[in-house]
Amino acid sequence: MANAETLKQSILAQVAEYYRLVHSEQPFTPGESRVHYAGRVFDEREMVNTVDSVLDFWLTAGPWAQQFEKKLGAFLGVREVFPVNSGSSANLVAVTALCSQQLDNPLRPGDEVIVPATSFPTTVNPIIQNGLVPVFVDMNAADLNLDVTQLDAALSDRTRAVIFAHTLGIPADLDVIKAFTDKHDLYLIEDACDALGSKWNGKMVGTFGDFGTLSCYPAHHITMGEGGAVYTNQPKLGKIARAVRDWGRDCWCGYNSPVNGKCGIRFEREVPGIPGFYDHKYFYTEIGYNLKLTDPQAAMGVAQLDKLPDFIATRKANYAYLHAAFQQFDDYLQLPEPDGRADVSWFAFPMMVREGAPFQRHELTRYLEANHVETRLIFAGNITRQPAYQHTTYRAVGDLRVADDIMERGFFVGVYPGLDRPRLDYMIDVFKKFLRR
Ligand SMILES: Cc1ncc(COP(=O)(O)O)c(C=O)c1O
Repeated sequence: MANAETLKQSILAQVAEYYRLVHSEQPFTPGESRVHYAGRVFDEREMVNTVDSVLDFWLTAGPWAQQFEKKLGAFLGVREVFPVNSGSSANLVAVTALCSQQLDNPLRPGDEVIVPATSFPTTVNPIIQNGLVPVFVDMNAADLNLDVTQLDAALSDRTRAVIFAHTLGIPADLDVIKAFTDKHDLYLIEDACDALGSKWNGKMVGTFGDFGTLSCYPAHHITMGEGGAVYTNQPKLGKIARAVRDWGRDCWCGYNSPVNGKCGIRFEREVPGIPGFYDHKYFYTEIGYNLKLTDPQAAMGVAQLDKLPDFIATRKANYAYLHAAFQQFDDYLQLPEPDGRADVSWFAFPMMVREGAPFQRHELTRYLEANHVETRLIFAGNITRQPAYQHTTYRAVGDLRVADDIMERGFFVGVYPGLDRPRLDYMIDVFKKFLRR
């Protein structure tokens, strides 16, 4: 055993050395290197944790996943965290859990769910996948979130839930949304995939409703390669969400469950019509999936969580630096205006080309990309205009004009911690060159 431990420490030391040799230098050559919109930011600790977990060879969610749950729960201030294999899976688990027959008043096929027209596809898709009807509301151009003044107009006697993303980290007006969902007894899911660490009135977004969700795709605040989490403060919803994630099984024994499990009654279940007792691990109470993540992913996530406060601080500083510089482009570019109650953990720097500007959005983004500054569009634009949604059943409130504007004129550039001053200055310079033409 001593030999094994010595060998392990030597391997991990070499992994750290490998990181320093291969990955630590990120040289920047203006005009040649790409200024990414996002990317994984890591050092030897992520690589060491991941290899450590591979050497343990637990593979499926285990001790590292348990640590990840605890750390993320402490950061967010939530009771129940369930790691999953993507942010999309987190949204699927959340919506599916609200359809559970174990709830007194579950969502039922045909029920309506209010959702912003400018959404990421997999914020909307679980609504459709569960036989529910999306009701699209228009956007607010100032913060690129759902226009909360349209919530009343969206309401019908089938409305049962609201689900929305805090766009690119900018918190939506949770005072109005929460008052609306409370008043009409609606479920609320916050897709906080882009908003880890954002706060509304000093409280973490994702913790206001029934479920919050997280993505750990490399573009996001922390990464596990692929991965995410769904979280809640309600133990009953947590138990259902776990079952939906884990094949639909009722067992909640956790990662290290001994033969008789944490519940202590593993072999005391009865199935009507089947004599004797039935193993709880094979007792299904939900129509589930397998959406779990692996332990090496969680090991990486643990190292990322340790850095999260610094990541958030750098994202804010990069945003502030770009924001100050972009003021000079005010004639052409409309910058976001978050509400005063929002403390934004920026995912990116979104903006819209002003109506009447002497160029179109694609001319600017093509120029930026040609000059190695990466850009991305804002979610699916007006999602009702995307081909996949042409044959789905939905309702739209009004003409979704602002969602169209965002689709026509919106885009974003990066603020992630991999961007330093030379990269930001280069980006500002490329904007300047285009806009001065
Ligand atoms: C708001 C939002 N929700 C959900 C997702 C899906 O996350 P994932 O890529 O981990 O499936 C994304 C992805 O970027 C997103 O931006």
